[in-house]
Amino acid sequence: MWAAVETTARRVFARYGFAEVRTPIFEESELFARGVGESSDIVGKEMYSFVDKSERHLSLRPESTAAVVRAYVEHGMHRLPQPVKLYYIGPQFRYERPQKGRYRQFHQIGAELLGGRGAESDAEVLLMLVALLNELGFKDIKVLLNTVGDAESRGVYRQRLVQFLETRRERLGEESVRRLATNPLRILDSKSPAEQELLSEAPQLRDFLNEKSVAHFATVRQVLEQFGVAYELSPRLVRGLDYYTDTVFELVAEGLGAQNAICGGGAYEGLVEALGGPPTYAVGFAIGEDRLVDVLPADSPARAEAQVFAPGPVVVAAAGRLPVKVGEPSPLFSLVERLRRLGLPAVEATGRQEKVFERANAIASPVVVFIGQEELQSGRYSMRALESGERGEFDEFELVRELRKYFPLTRPSQRGAGTSALPADAVTEGEE
Ligand code: HAM
Repeated sequence: MWAAVETTARRVFARYGFAEVRTPIFEESELFARGVGESSDIVGKEMYSFVDKSERHLSLRPESTAAVVRAYVEHGMHRLPQPVKLYYIGPQFRYERPQKGRYRQFHQIGAELLGGRGAESDAEVLLMLVALLNELGFKDIKVLLNTVGDAESRGVYRQRLVQFLETRRERLGEESVRRLATNPLRILDSKSPAEQELLSEAPQLRDFLNEKSVAHFATVRQVLEQFGVAYELSPRLVRGLDYYTDTVFELVAEGLGAQNAICGGGAYEGLVEALGGPPTYAVGFAIGEDRLVDVLPADSPARAEAQVFAPGPVVVAAAGRLPVKVGEPSPLFSLVERLRRLGLPAVEATGRQEKVFERANAIASPVVVFIGQEELQSGRYSMRALESGERGEFDEFELVRELRKYFPLTRPSQRGAGTSALPADAVTEGEE
């Protein structure tokens, strides 16, 4: 299922012109401190950091945006025709308290558009995200949208928010008092009901946006509306990473409990420059793949795609002792390999009959094929269907045709079939 979800993502991303990038699992710790932000929880508390044999300070990547930007700058991708569109699929690491939907090693499917054109790039990335979720069969995902303004707007607002909260310190929890000094905007994200109430009286960021940020957000919304993307404005959505500017968004799904965000993202206009590149407009997102797979709809096309690898393989076993000829593969080995060359998944099983059936059940195999002394001589195989208990005797040609019924999605492997006893098309002819 994971593979099918990833294949769907690759297909949709390619349609929008994104290509895959693979960055290392660990980077210099400094990259995340500068990129994600010293005051963020991710860098402050959640990194798996270590010192290597040459005394370098390294961290398992807690996210991949900073790493992709590092690669963009380091490999001179800013000199390529812009925008550069990259996606990644892979593990990330955060030392968080594990619970349902929150793991210390989790997986993201993410995309970054670098060197873009402002609001239109934000909308493009969101349209791609929604296209992916549609293709995965999601119908009730909520898109939460907000703007955190540009650095200028946010600076002004930050001051006013701190002024407001400073005089009401006693109504803040310990964590928020700490954040007042380090990262006051993060307080807006508080889940505490008392703090939520206080914040409802606080100055609102949207009243401090400068003209440029107002226009930016209006364009994003307009494009989304034009292309039929429903969203909900979420004025207190600020996200936990420091690099965001203007548009930020999160996607939430039902059925995940407290950890209901399956995707987060936004624009980050200053990050490329902060990491040594030229001023560059950029925007991206990351989907939590663990959570996404958890809430994949029952009728998701990805489930059907995953069926290519289910049911399990045909089990081929010996009925009694088979003759062993020195220097020759056993009849079991040979039949299994011939079936595989015709595109049918097959494995060999040995041991007594009960053991063979036990194994077949364990790997969700639909059928067991037996070869005995007699079968070898007559060139016929006996087959037993596991669910119905039906039995039959077939020659190899008929056997392959019977087996295909259990694996309608398989195709003969043309290259391998050349050396098989049966021509690859002999068994598919007339079936399609
Ligand atoms: P983030 O919101 O920290 O953003 O993570 C994105 C998604 O990863 C979350 O919405 C969630 O689904 C998943 N996730 C995060 N932490 C965990 C965890 N401990 N266990 C399971 N899933 C988790 C970023 O990482 C940004 N780099 C996104 C981005 C890309 N912004 C711009 N470009």
